[in-house]
Amino acid sequence: MIGQYKILKKITEEEIRQQVKKIARDIIKEYQNREPILIGILNGVFIFLSDLVREIPIPLKIDFVRLASYGSKNVSSGEIKLTKDIELPIEGNPVIIVEDIIDTGLTLSYLVRHIKEREPESVKICVLINKLERREKEVMIDYWGFEIKKGFVVGYGLDYNEKFRYLPYILNLEMKD
Ligand code: IMP
Repeated sequence: MIGQYKILKKITEEEIRQQVKKIARDIIKEYQNREPILIGILNGVFIFLSDLVREIPIPLKIDFVRLASYGSKNVSSGEIKLTKDIELPIEGNPVIIVEDIIDTGLTLSYLVRHIKEREPESVKICVLINKLERREKEVMIDYWGFEIKKGFVVGYGLDYNEKFRYLPYILNLEMKD
């Protein structure tokens, strides 16, 4: 238990480190000499992205977007608004979107559409956690760390109502509502 929540699964710091390194190796292989632009989705991605780029010793650029989605407290409604846009020019460049977690897929499918309007050379998607239970939009994921079947995930940057972001590991919690 953590607070009132039952822990279904813990992903340890070592398991996270191994998966971050594996994703980094795959990215290095594909983007050597191509200078990709990594676009992180705030806020949840800040720890994952900073660990990931330190494992990728090739030239790359980093930018961020922020999206707000409106809905009940732990599922998005589908109404998505961009509250901070990309600032780097991405036209003609290889882009990798980096996200902490995909759930319904609504956020990423919205962002991919938005980014493709700027005509980058290519767009790939990297997520730390692939949550399978509630997918509504099919999104092609190119790099991912962990699959989670149900529940809510916190820690390592991920929050539940702004709680638990600081945990150095990941907890998969059972949610009753
Ligand atoms: P989607 O649009 O439903 O795919 O949701 C993506 C966004 O919802 C993520 O960027 C997270 O901010 C949030 N989210 C979805 N599931 C979780 C979770 O289990 N823990 C923390 N945040 C989550």
